[in-house]
Amino acid sequence: MCGILGFSGKGPVRKIISRGLKALEYRGYDSCGYAFLSEGVVCVNKKTGKGGTDELVSEIPEYSDRRICVISHTRWATHGKVCLENAHPHRDCKNEIALVHNGIIENYARLKKELEQKGHIFSSDTDTEVIAHLFEEEAKKMPFRKAVLKSLNKLDGTFALLVLRKGCSEIIGARKGSPLFAGVKGKDFFISSDINSIVNYTDEIMFLEDGDMFAIGDEMEILDFVKKESVKRSFSRIKSGVQSTAMGNFESYMQKEIFEQPAALVSTFNSLCKELARYMEIVDTVPGRITIVGCGSSWHAGLIGEYMMEKLLRIPVEVEYASEFRYRNPVFLPDDLVVSISQSGETADTLGAVKEAKKKAKLLSICNVHNSSIPGESNYALYTQAGPEIGVASTKAFTAQIAALYFLNLLLALKMGLIKEYSLEKKIEEFSATAKKIRCIFSMLPDMEKIADKLKDKSNALFLGRGIHFPVALEGALKMKEVSYIHAEGYPAAEMKHGPIALIDENMPVVFISVRDRFSMKVISNMREVKARGGCIITVSDYIDDDILNISDEIINIPEAENEYLKPLLTVIPLQLLAYLTALKRDCDVDKPRNLAKCVTVE
Ligand code: F6R
Repeated sequence: MCGILGFSGKGPVRKIISRGLKALEYRGYDSCGYAFLSEGVVCVNKKTGKGGTDELVSEIPEYSDRRICVISHTRWATHGKVCLENAHPHRDCKNEIALVHNGIIENYARLKKELEQKGHIFSSDTDTEVIAHLFEEEAKKMPFRKAVLKSLNKLDGTFALLVLRKGCSEIIGARKGSPLFAGVKGKDFFISSDINSIVNYTDEIMFLEDGDMFAIGDEMEILDFVKKESVKRSFSRIKSGVQSTAMGNFESYMQKEIFEQPAALVSTFNSLCKELARYMEIVDTVPGRITIVGCGSSWHAGLIGEYMMEKLLRIPVEVEYASEFRYRNPVFLPDDLVVSISQSGETADTLGAVKEAKKKAKLLSICNVHNSSIPGESNYALYTQAGPEIGVASTKAFTAQIAALYFLNLLLALKMGLIKEYSLEKKIEEFSATAKKIRCIFSMLPDMEKIADKLKDKSNALFLGRGIHFPVALEGALKMKEVSYIHAEGYPAAEMKHGPIALIDENMPVVFISVRDRFSMKVISNMREVKARGGCIITVSDYIDDDILNISDEIINIPEAENEYLKPLLTVIPLQLLAYLTALKRDCDVDKPRNLAKCVTVE
């Protein structure tokens, strides 16, 4: 993870770096820092903790008559604890080199040992510092650019990096396996891990590729550091995709994004339906098997997709953790379709899984971010229209992924002749009607406050559901642990008696998802089992009967969705709200929970 941002030019550099770092904070917010060249000297400033970038950048000089080169970084700790020594930029022994890095250097321990034997003194626990010392060592024998080129080929792992060196009025950088974009405006150059941190200044963007090494002075030069030959790549104008990231009247991004779901869902589903004819053409054959890969909430969305698709299409569907799939040497069959799901489009393990499947299966990605790496590696993409998701815990992106999976289910059903095109109109109506019902759930907030009051002092919670609501239970538990730090587990309701039931006592809240479907009576039996052991039952239900009334300690009575596949869109909302409200009552930062980052670009 980590975000890196560089600027070479004149003008309001403090604002550019401060705003840019804020825009990159979703990649990590443990610490941040920057380096610039002044009178040929490398100056470094860094801090730990969230926020405070405006004060931090106040020491960067702003020139109107000459160019300044600045590199900056926001960190998500991988090697070494959160402290100033481990914050980027990292330096060499003589403080002549400053370097920022995103990625992981896998052979850093061996390189560090070799460099220590040559007399290098290290001051951090990071893998990154080794790069600065390696550059220093090679530069003893050759010009700096050549030293960087040679060193890059010694690094195993992934990197997007920027480096400044005393006496050189340029930023040198490189990428392998971690995203990096360049932007230009006149003679000003921007370089960043995420376009969104620079699109306020320019829409002329260049997508750097693995193996690119570049130098930015008055011009930008690019070299393939593996083939050691120069590369021609140009800037192109991208559609101004700047979407508002203002919090408006909301108290947090998480709250705003939960409330944006009705609009995000309709926008996602309608935009996909508008392009139905195009998708009917590009998804040219019906797959024999579908493998869905993703991580975290995206993996949960995949499980919901599995229930939908196996039921309607009768095509076998496997849902895999991307991190396991990529290294398992998976078996591919001739008619396989691999569906990757990723909000960010940059998750390292999902990208790795997609690369593993490339050339062996057709690849379709479901993604929320245009121009990101995962759709770039896929044959087709279904974009969700959730808009920028800033809160670290996924909410609107998750439900938008379910909308895209529902669309894919219908698309394949049409292709297979299981439904007729005219019935799509009805499906669109059903979808909008369900999305509207989310607003009714928002009106139940005062009741949920009372339940959150009960939850806030608990140490553990269980979330149980059956069928398509089992993955919803997993998602509810993940939301609770991410933002409130209460230990929560999701289970298939029937599985509880095979172990977790040992945990049930009066201190264990159990959230049941019990909807009107073929499992209703079975879920009621599972609720009775918890009740018999003194557990406190919170029921999310789209129907009320005597059993629900008698067994539950608390009931969140949600509206009924228009069809069974759309029910998860409603059952997950109270779980998001319970996690949100409980976290607030425990004084947790719901937007930037501890230890997390929004975009996980390390495996
Ligand atoms: C949970 C959450 C994470 C992400 C996971 C995958 O709230 O946000 O579990 O879902 O890191 O991220 P993407 O979807 O960007 O690949």
